[in-house]
Amino acid sequence: MSQADAAVVQLPDDERPTKWYNIQADLPEPLPPPKDPETGPSRLKSLPELLLAECLRQENSTERWIEIPPEVQELYRQAGRPRPLIRAHRLEKRLGTPAHLYYKTEFYSPTGSHKVNTALAQAWYAKQEGYERLTTETGAGQWGTALAYAASLAELKTTIYWVRAVHDWKIQRRQFMKLYGATVHASPSSETSVGRALLAKRANHPGSLGIAVSEGLEDAKRDEKAIYCLGSVLNHVLLHQTIIGLETQRQFEQIGAYPDIMVSSLGGGSNFGGFTLPFLADAIKGKAIRFIAAQSAAAPNLQGEYRYDFADHAELTPLLKMYTLGHKTEMRPVKGDGLRYHGCSPILSLLRHRGFIDTIAYPEDERYVFERARQFVQAEGFLPAPESAYSVACAIDEAMKCKETRERKVIAFNVSGHGFMDMEGYAQVLGL
Ligand SMILES: Cc1ncc(COP(=O)(O)O)c(C=O)c1O
Repeated sequence: MSQADAAVVQLPDDERPTKWYNIQADLPEPLPPPKDPETGPSRLKSLPELLLAECLRQENSTERWIEIPPEVQELYRQAGRPRPLIRAHRLEKRLGTPAHLYYKTEFYSPTGSHKVNTALAQAWYAKQEGYERLTTETGAGQWGTALAYAASLAELKTTIYWVRAVHDWKIQRRQFMKLYGATVHASPSSETSVGRALLAKRANHPGSLGIAVSEGLEDAKRDEKAIYCLGSVLNHVLLHQTIIGLETQRQFEQIGAYPDIMVSSLGGGSNFGGFTLPFLADAIKGKAIRFIAAQSAAAPNLQGEYRYDFADHAELTPLLKMYTLGHKTEMRPVKGDGLRYHGCSPILSLLRHRGFIDTIAYPEDERYVFERARQFVQAEGFLPAPESAYSVACAIDEAMKCKETRERKVIAFNVSGHGFMDMEGYAQVLGL
């Protein structure tokens, strides 16, 4: 058996990354900076009140490598890092594909997803900077749980604004957040002026990530002991998530292989970016590698326009240059609701604009995607989060193309989270 055939690729502890990778040092052109709208107060000037000082520094940094604080490295270890890379031998066999499929196991996470990678860093910085409470938005609920967990470890309080369309059906996840000590509001909520205005027009408003971001920001702004933490989109969030791709890169080195195709789901871009950015650096230098972002047709933001737009519904953030569907656009809820966001991270948007990233949007009824997830569950045994099911579906699609063309491509995909608390979603769509 060659090394590339090993079923599980572990990374020895002495090879675990101790620095995050900042692609801003290697982009083909400088990232268009955030800017203020033509009217209204300056959002740029209020950024130091909106973001942690260290995260704001990282947001603008062009240093290639940024040290992971030793305390955060230790927290990563306790959260099960490095995570294995697994060769999907049984799935390959059942599909009858000559492709080699490898998946990164972000589902081995205390709260269920990759979101802990940035939550642990942000909560740790918040504690150092003297804050007592964190506020945030969440869609799937995975980010809210991750931040509640990280805050609880750092002895901080958390207030979570959770998109109502998901809050109302993920009862166990809501209880999990509360177990960590978090306060959870369905968004839009009556806690903020943004929420009250929307509820006045529509009592059972399903909410959106853009609205929940506005509520979290408004809440933090009125309390000087509170700071807002974001779970995706921004440069510093993708930076923290590069731990995924850096480990994966070393795991591929260890087995003497390299991916031809990399796939992951994309909502705001944190797991896709974390997984691919170290490899995108190789692609910028000329290496042939295909990157595919799997999205929902409910929010195919990478097929939107590349322009400046607000990151939130109430226009409290600066304008970011990104692929966007428009910050006021209503999008129908889906079970993989973590993918329902109007915009994509500025870093990934630039790379898509320069032709480095392909995208596919799967139908809103999610039958196709969940049927593909069923194949994965039955062959590999792990239950992907609904969002991660999009990554699985796309990887299987690419493997089936290889079957037709008889190509032995190496396909790497990220399974960003587990779906233990999302069975209701699978049951409804698949009629279980
Ligand atoms: C498990 C999981 N994967 C993927 C996503 C999509 O977000 P991002 O694009 O930031 O990775 C989410 C969002 O909630 C999620 O919970």
